[in-house]
Amino acid sequence: MRQSRGVLPSKKDSVIKDPAAAGTLVLAALRPDLDQAAVLAWLSQADLLVKQIQAATDANGRRTGTVAVGFGPSFFTRANGTTRFPGVEPPAGFAPDPGAAPPAGLPRIPQVPGSVDAAADVAFYVMATREQATAEFLTGLAATGDAIVSIRQERGHQRADETEPFGYKDGVRNVARDDRGNVVFVDPDVLPEEPDWAENGTYMTWMKIPQDLAAFSRLAPADQDAVIGRDRAGRRLDLPEATRDEPADDAAALPPASHVRKTGPRGPVRDKTQIFRRGLPYAEAAAGRVSAGLQFVSFQASLDQLRVVLNRWMLNPDFPVRGCGQDALVARGLIRIESHGFFFVPPDTDDPIGAVMFAPPKNKRRPKTGKVAVRKRVIDSNGTELDVDLAGFTFQVVDPATGQPVGEPFATNSHGHALSPDLPTGTPLRLDETAATAGATPSQPIAFTLDAARHVVRVDNVVPIGTVYGG
Ligand code: HEM
Repeated sequence: MRQSRGVLPSKKDSVIKDPAAAGTLVLAALRPDLDQAAVLAWLSQADLLVKQIQAATDANGRRTGTVAVGFGPSFFTRANGTTRFPGVEPPAGFAPDPGAAPPAGLPRIPQVPGSVDAAADVAFYVMATREQATAEFLTGLAATGDAIVSIRQERGHQRADETEPFGYKDGVRNVARDDRGNVVFVDPDVLPEEPDWAENGTYMTWMKIPQDLAAFSRLAPADQDAVIGRDRAGRRLDLPEATRDEPADDAAALPPASHVRKTGPRGPVRDKTQIFRRGLPYAEAAAGRVSAGLQFVSFQASLDQLRVVLNRWMLNPDFPVRGCGQDALVARGLIRIESHGFFFVPPDTDDPIGAVMFAPPKNKRRPKTGKVAVRKRVIDSNGTELDVDLAGFTFQVVDPATGQPVGEPFATNSHGHALSPDLPTGTPLRLDETAATAGATPSQPIAFTLDAARHVVRVDNVVPIGTVYGG
């Protein structure tokens, strides 16, 4: 399975970076009574429209459009918790035809306070340099019959100078080219909780964020820079000049609530938690006025990465310094997240888009060694998950019969994920938490036996109510 299309700028998807391109996010809800056969038939039709855009070229042979197709939580699961497309009952003697198994992150999407979930089953993130191509895509969708019951479109535009509506250069510090594969696409060795079919797919986040241009323009220029943490040209405020080689350690001289310090804290541990941003500015007439802002879009292999950047860092009033308040853009009322959606973009295959979601799981034999993947949560005594830094919880696997360590110790990153060294399968083992952070006490040992290459263990620590971020 190849990496999802329409996600990273590449030779095939060069249109993503084309300053002449416009973006359209098409959010569709499907008829609630569609069955598996009907949804697969509709996906084949939609796939033809996607391929048409992706194949088109201009007079110089350059591709002129691409599409990333994502599926939201409601595509997989109904509001009452039942599977939306259960496997088709086969004739006697045949193996069952599996239904679409949801990506592991969709049943537990991040919280976006004050924003409305667009509740779309399918999202098409179209980029095109010809308006006609987007229009043909939309009319093509209309011609697919009555599978779609409602549709909404959100627009944004690329730009030559890379500025966002407040006038600042955006995308100065995004994921480095060489790291993009790891940050963006699902690797089953690292994310064993994902279904087999999700390999090389990615989670897409979308948030529509109106910006208050008048309020921002009333701020003194130095104050505007302090809100962002950079000047308009992209120079970080604590550095003498703009550079692609910014120091790798914490930018402690920046205002703690500045957007750059909140969303992009540095250091070897926190740098492991990143998201690939591909948002577009927009300007539209709404309710008789001009409204401008950002169609924020990011891609990441796990929604835990987004949860860290958005909830544990940007909106957390105690990060990176206790009591510093939320991101200055939010705290000072300069932006507001209006609506949002989370989607999974399946990998690229030779089959129509999304058909891979209905593929049977692979038949795996038990390997000689495997790894345990820890997923950490810190909760209070009411069971509420806390926005603490999840990095630095340390584990040691032990042979319960002898008490001897098995393999080296290993630790969580900021999104609470940790992967053990290779361990023997088929033998009882014990996971000991040897060090806890965030004011928590180490959890109880957990007994387990590996029977696959990867085994996911959830480890919760309970802390007293009122505990705040460790800083
Ligand atoms: C309208 C809303 C927003 C505006 C105007 C905005 C603007 C900016 C600007 C000007 C920069 C500095 C240039 C750069 O390094 O790319 C930046 C960086 C960044 N933004 Fe935003 N942003 C917005 C919303 C968000 C949201 C909602 C998130 C994440 C949940 C986010 C995540 C980031 C990240 C991760 C960086 C890079 C920080 C670094 O590593 O230095 N932004 N943004």
